[in-house]
Amino acid sequence: MDKIVEISGLSKAYTQGHEQILVLEELSFAISKGEFVSIVGPSGSGKSTFLNIIGLLDDTYSGEIKLFGRRLEDMDEYEKAVLRLKNIGFVFQFDSLLPEFTVLENIEMPARLLGSDGPGRGLELLKRFDLEIIAHKFPMEISGGEKQRAAMLRALRNRPALLIADEPTGNLDRHTSGVILDDLRRAAELGAGVLMVTHNEEAARRADRMLRMAGGRLEAVK
Ligand SMILES: Nc1ncnc2c1ncn2[C@@H]1O[C@H](COP(=O)(O)OP(=O)(O)OP(=O)(O)O)[C@@H](O)[C@H]1O
Ligand SMILES: [Mg+2]
Repeated sequence: MDKIVEISGLSKAYTQGHEQILVLEELSFAISKGEFVSIVGPSGSGKSTFLNIIGLLDDTYSGEIKLFGRRLEDMDEYEKAVLRLKNIGFVFQFDSLLPEFTVLENIEMPARLLGSDGPGRGLELLKRFDLEIIAHKFPMEISGGEKQRAAMLRALRNRPALLIADEPTGNLDRHTSGVILDDLRRAAELGAGVLMVTHNEEAARRADRMLRMAGGRLEAVK
């Protein structure tokens, strides 16, 4: 079994006033270990909504979701919280590092929550991704691209089996976007399933598989 996410019949509606707005409708999806998958689609089509559900940040949906072979509905809140911390790395659409901590301290944050094994792994990650130079800088002392990459390393800190990235190259130039895509590719090569949402078609095409969110479902593009 190397499918780490399996989803079938996923529907999600938001209530707006007296109206129910259906954002996801009977959606199916799966991703395997080591696979790099991208999702494109117009603004408001439900991409972030979808990622938040997979990332266990939103449990108001219907349908079946299996993460790492386990059905979410069979798990209690505590089990889900541990699963999330140990197995899922999340880079948000408008991510931010904590300003009063250094880059290395920010990267170590998720490990502290699990009872850290020391800062070795954070430094190793910074080295592996050629970012050692910013380890002891504060977020306001580094560039936007470096912040994005640091947020990604924080997401990778606990060796997640699944890395979810919502618009990780937003507002970055072509070169820096390319570096971040290389980082994501490397994370997949190290064994994580990587799921990225982006508005950048060129970036999306660099994934192994490219999907489009349309009409509440995901359709294959590449
Ligand atoms: N908390 C909420 N309450 C009500 N409606 C919401 C909520 N969050 C999102 N929506 C609506 O659900 C739809 C999907 O939103 P979502 O954020 O998933 O889109 P998206 O595809 O990520 O868009 P973008 O590319 O702009 O980030 C939108 O119409 C949005 O207005
Ligand atoms: Mg979004």
